[in-house]
Amino acid sequence: MARRPRTSWTTSRATPWPGSRERPSRGRGAEAVTAQGRRVAVVTGAGQGIGRGIAATLVARGLRVAVVDRHPDRAQATAAALGPAAVPVAADLLDEHAVAAMAATVLEALGRWDVLVNNAGALRLGSIGATTVADWDAVFDGCVKTAWLCTRAAAGPLAASGEGRIINVSSVVARGAASENLIAYTAAKGAVEALTVACARELGASGITVNAVCPGSIETPAWDRFPDPDGLRRARAAVAAVGRIGRPEEIGAAVAYLASPEAGFVTGQVLVVDGGRTDKL
Ligand SMILES: NC(=O)c1ccc[n+]([C@@H]2O[C@H](COP(=O)([O-])OP(=O)(O)OC[C@H]3O[C@@H](n4cnc5c(N)ncnc54)[C@H](O)[C@@H]3O)[C@@H](O)[C@H]2O)c1
Repeated sequence: MARRPRTSWTTSRATPWPGSRERPSRGRGAEAVTAQGRRVAVVTGAGQGIGRGIAATLVARGLRVAVVDRHPDRAQATAAALGPAAVPVAADLLDEHAVAAMAATVLEALGRWDVLVNNAGALRLGSIGATTVADWDAVFDGCVKTAWLCTRAAAGPLAASGEGRIINVSSVVARGAASENLIAYTAAKGAVEALTVACARELGASGITVNAVCPGSIETPAWDRFPDPDGLRRARAAVAAVGRIGRPEEIGAAVAYLASPEAGFVTGQVLVVDGGRTDKL
């Protein structure tokens, strides 16, 4: 029997902060506000890195944004930096009950739900031989299960929106870019793209589009987990046609297009935003 979302605080319960109930958007630019109105986006893993850049871009374009992260301090700091259009929500999206509670919190705090950005992911270094079953499961759960659980929770509210948008975050490793020592992550991001197509087909009749954004190398705190991050930055810049790695807001701009009402005839697609990686097979 499915458990109901918990109603008291635990570390996995979705939790808004006091005073974070619905407030008017103050997105920059009247034109952007007119186009996006008071639409509500949920960005997962938005406490730092690419997710934070996506949340910032959507707020700048007039959306209200739920900043979801399993680290409450990160969610709170990002939302505070983005202003009153952003609401922090703490939830570990590996837990289906926490996902249900997150969805309930979003609807209670913001009143509607139009856009879901499945950005949260998990990465473990490892070749075929060096990857453990625990690593494999952690990466697949972190990248694929979280996206499916959030999509499942969002499908009803996004159908009610009439212009629902789901954007999944993949990676160029799933498309032949150099991915040595990333066997589980590469396979999981391939699964994210397959999930994108399957969900686009299933949810299209509900007026929901489902697409993926596929980043190349983007400057985020995650890079510090690699050995020699500065060497990796130089190597990744060297294989980009534009000669540099990207910024989180550049992924945000691609997400903002796919999240917009104007993108209603685009679904099941993968938009690669990688500065022209030249190391793809
Ligand atoms: N940085 C890159 O170069 C790059 C390139 C391609 C794809 N990506 C993808 O972009 C996404 C974001 O990457 P990033 O570099 O910003 O990562 P990051 O580690 O800097 O930030 C990820 C955030 O997600 C949160 N998070 C992770 N799992 C969660 C969960 N189960 N529940 C709630 N929150 C969770 C973390 O707490 C963290 O704040 C990931 O899906 C990653 O695979 C990143």
